[in-house]
Amino acid sequence: MSMPATLTLTRPDDWHLHLRDGAALRAVLPYTAAQFARAIVMPNLKPPVTTASQAIAYRERILAARPAGSDFTPLMTLYLTDTTTPAEIARAKAAGVVALKLYPAGATTNSDDGVTDIRKTRATLEAMQREGLLLLVHGEVTDPAVDIFDREAVFIDRVMIPLRRDFPELKIVFEHLTTREAAHYVRDADAHTAATITAHHLLYNRNALFVGGLRPHFYCLPILKREEHRQALLAAATSGSPKFFLGTDSAPHAAALKEASVCGAGCFTAPAALELYAEAFEAAGALARLEGFASHFGADFYGLPRNTGCVTLLRQPRTLPEQLPFGEVTIKPLLGGQELNWSLQPGWS
Ligand code: DOR
Ligand code: ZN
Repeated sequence: MSMPATLTLTRPDDWHLHLRDGAALRAVLPYTAAQFARAIVMPNLKPPVTTASQAIAYRERILAARPAGSDFTPLMTLYLTDTTTPAEIARAKAAGVVALKLYPAGATTNSDDGVTDIRKTRATLEAMQREGLLLLVHGEVTDPAVDIFDREAVFIDRVMIPLRRDFPELKIVFEHLTTREAAHYVRDADAHTAATITAHHLLYNRNALFVGGLRPHFYCLPILKREEHRQALLAAATSGSPKFFLGTDSAPHAAALKEASVCGAGCFTAPAALELYAEAFEAAGALARLEGFASHFGADFYGLPRNTGCVTLLRQPRTLPEQLPFGEVTIKPLLGGQELNWSLQPGWS
C-alpha cells in the first residue's frame, strides 16, 4: 500500500464543536482556529444560548477571542427549548443563526433546559422548516429504563422516525453517531438527513473506557459502543456518501472535573482533531476520502460555500502534550502524551 508523506485538503470545517465561554473559550479556540475555517458552535452554555440576541453576543465574544490574524468564522446555533417561539426563529434567521440544537432534557451536559416532549415544539419546527434553519439532534432517549448503550437506537424509533415523517423538508443532522443502527438509518434516509461523526468514535470502542482501569478522558455522550458499531461508523465515514461529515464534538472540561468521582462527559480532541481523523481514515485504507468528509460534504448540506485554500498534513510523528492551560486550571487532550502519526502544517494557503 502506498504511504503518502503529505496530504493536502481543502480547508476543513468542524460541524459540531463546544467552545464554552470566558477563559475556557480563550484557551481552546486557538486549537480549532488553527485547523478549521468554520465551526458549528454548540449552545449549551450555562445558561444556554436560547435567543438570537444571546447568539449575537456569544458570536462577538468568540470573534474577540480569536488569535491575531485568524479568519475563523463561528456558525451560531440556538438551544431549542419547550418554549422557543416561531418569532425567535425569525429573529435567529435574521441574525445569521444557522441551526437549532435539540437536547432531550437530561440527556447530557447542560441539557436540563432541553426539550421535554418534541410535540411541544411543533410550531417552532414548522418555522425552522419554512426559514431554512437546520435541526441538530442529540439522538438519545433519556428514559432511565433504557440501557445507556441502547439509547441512540431507541431514539431512532421513538423520535427520529416520527420527526422525519412530520417535517419532511426540515434539514436534520443526527449528531455524533455512535451505532450501526444510526449509521444505517442515515444512509437509508432521504436527502434532508445527514450526520456528523467524531474522531474518537471512529478510533475507539467501549473497551477504551476500561483499559487497565477506568479512563475518564474517554467518557463522552453518546458513550462509546461495541467494536461492531465502530466498524459501521468507519464504513459510513469512508463510504464517500455526502450524508456523513466531520464534527469533532470536542468538549473541553477541566482535568480536575474529568478525574473526579463524577466525571463530566466529553472528549477534548480539538488540539489534534484532523490528525485523529487522518489516523482513522488511513487505518481504513481510505485517506483519499478524508477531503470530502472533512471539507466538502458539511458545507454542501448546510448550503454554504466550500472553503477556498488548503491545509496540509505531514506524516511526521508528534507527541501531543499531556496537559494544556485552561484558564486558571489545566485540561488534558484525548491521547495526551501519546505519539500521533500525522502533524498539521501550521497555517494555510
Ligand atoms: O460528551 C459530551 N459532552 N456530550 C455532549 O452531548 C455534551 C458535551 C459537553 O458539552 O461537554
Ligand atoms: Zn456535543
